[in-house]
Amino acid sequence: MTAPTGVPDLLAPEFTDDPYAGYARLREQAPAATVSLMGGPPMMLVTRYDEVRTVLTDPRFVTDPEFAGAGSNLRDTLLRQAGVPDDLAVYLLRTILTVDGDDHTRLRKLVSRAFTVRRVQALRPRVEQITAGLLDDIAAAGARGAPVDLVEAFGYPLPITVICELVGVPEPDRAQWHDWGRVLTSMDPGRTPEVLRAAVGHVHELIAARRAEPADDLVSALIAAQEDDGDRLSDQEMVTMIFALVMAGHETTAHLLSNGALALLTRPDQLAVLRAEPDRWPAAVNELMRARGPVQFTQFRYPVEDVELGGVLIPAGTPVTAGLLSANHDPRAYDRPDEIDVRRGAGRGDGHVGFGQGAHYCLGAALARQEGDVGLRMLFDRFPDLRLAVPAREIVWQPQPGTSRVAQLPVLIS
Ligand code: HEM
Repeated sequence: MTAPTGVPDLLAPEFTDDPYAGYARLREQAPAATVSLMGGPPMMLVTRYDEVRTVLTDPRFVTDPEFAGAGSNLRDTLLRQAGVPDDLAVYLLRTILTVDGDDHTRLRKLVSRAFTVRRVQALRPRVEQITAGLLDDIAAAGARGAPVDLVEAFGYPLPITVICELVGVPEPDRAQWHDWGRVLTSMDPGRTPEVLRAAVGHVHELIAARRAEPADDLVSALIAAQEDDGDRLSDQEMVTMIFALVMAGHETTAHLLSNGALALLTRPDQLAVLRAEPDRWPAAVNELMRARGPVQFTQFRYPVEDVELGGVLIPAGTPVTAGLLSANHDPRAYDRPDEIDVRRGAGRGDGHVGFGQGAHYCLGAALARQEGDVGLRMLFDRFPDLRLAVPAREIVWQPQPGTSRVAQLPVLIS
């Protein structure tokens, strides 16, 4: 089933060329709008801050469509549209993000210990070391006025290295994950099935290698948990989890780093505040997450009963997505929402929703914040003359389902 004519598609140029203006138009029309994604069936996009928080925290919204008695599973439909066959779809349909209740608690508990604030703080020296190495490479590549693309030289390699070390992906395999991540987030039917097969195969091999020879990494910890008590994690769930962690751990933070760098490069006044008051960096990263966070909208939720949201009726079983980017720019929640202000306070409620909210709140939020803080702080400290190599208007957003990311970010370092 495809969306009726006139229903806006979230991958249309009006949302990809300037996502902030595109979402603002929908938000000012209604708190929830009927939209589609890549020509797929219609769904509801919730656009305003209060209603977005309701969708993510109200128990009437669940992530498992069967539980909500929904007629169809929109994630499944979109995967089929991308050419994903049954034997691979199983690794994407029941993930930590798409199960509810006890199943979700069980899966989340198995991995949450690796991502606590304390564990993440202990990683900080290593994150600094990785960043310093990347900055050395950038210094060499950018010597004598050559432009360097910060997306490829900085945005991607920092989070890929960090998440792969944590999970246990060996160094020689990391570049592949970068390529795989790009194809899989594009949902291009021409390449998705082949790349997904390679990535899933790689995770199976990784698990087999760690079963034979455990190491100090997350894959080995999951194997140990499974051996202690087989009911806690099936083989399929283990593959799904490792795949999800490597993907979620880099194909998001990469864009926080690149989008954040662009925002500061084009706002010298904000950068000057940070140079004068470096203690503000963590708050600045929070503000960059709010204003330039990479995740535009969440996984689908389904109401278990009819729900009225801001005067709009959402019938039981309708696929709904929470518009995070739109909520974070909602003037009902923030003064001057489209301005980036590194001195801004947290805002209303618990602050922005860029990492989601409620039971599925981002597991890697502390890690992502730390990578943003260490990465951007060290980048701007190391290169005081850092500037765009092209006029800002030539920097384009990359059309990608659900993600705001710049395609390239060419800079000069001296
Ligand atoms: C700037 C970087 C990041 C952003 C913007 C981000 C955003 C999000 C959002 C919005 C959700 C909730 C989605 C929903 O409710 O449907 C989420 C969940 C999740 N994120 Fe992140 N994320 C980032 C980095 C990371 C990192 C570094 C990891 C590393 C492990 C990670 C792992 C996860 C996992 C496992 C979930 C699912 C949690 C659950 O269902 O309980 N994320 N993320």
